[in-house]
Amino acid sequence: MIGKIDHIGIAVSDLASALDFYDSALGLAASEIEEVPDQQVRLAVIPVGESRLELLQSTAPDGPVGRFVEKHGEGVHHICFEVDDIDSALATLRAAGIRLIDEQPRMGAGGRRIAFLHPRSAHGVLIELSEKPWKAGA
Ligand code: CO
Repeated sequence: MIGKIDHIGIAVSDLASALDFYDSALGLAASEIEEVPDQQVRLAVIPVGESRLELLQSTAPDGPVGRFVEKHGEGVHHICFEVDDIDSALATLRAAGIRLIDEQPRMGAGGRRIAFLHPRSAHGVLIELSEKPWKAGA
């Protein structure tokens, strides 16, 4: 069901300053920056080998990342696993009684179908599932 860690989401309060840190201190540069209105964030994707970091800056104080930063400060926000078939992954989880934030997949960064599991069902970790792109030479 799960192929790899697709990305790790990191909540930051200042995207430009975080990008500068990753670039100058670690030599990791962003490949793209994107607004995801659905999640009320501006996000930067930083490729790291086969995986990626996703830096998230809230665009709304009451958005999910805005509330997270207010409560916990900056830091690791979620871990995303790549799945082959998100509909069947959600059905399996639902049947196992796992609490889901998204009962149905929604559109995430890069036009991928994603869904979040509730941290209460996942030992305190916010887990995102992202469906592997099948076409478009990806
Ligand atoms: Co993510």
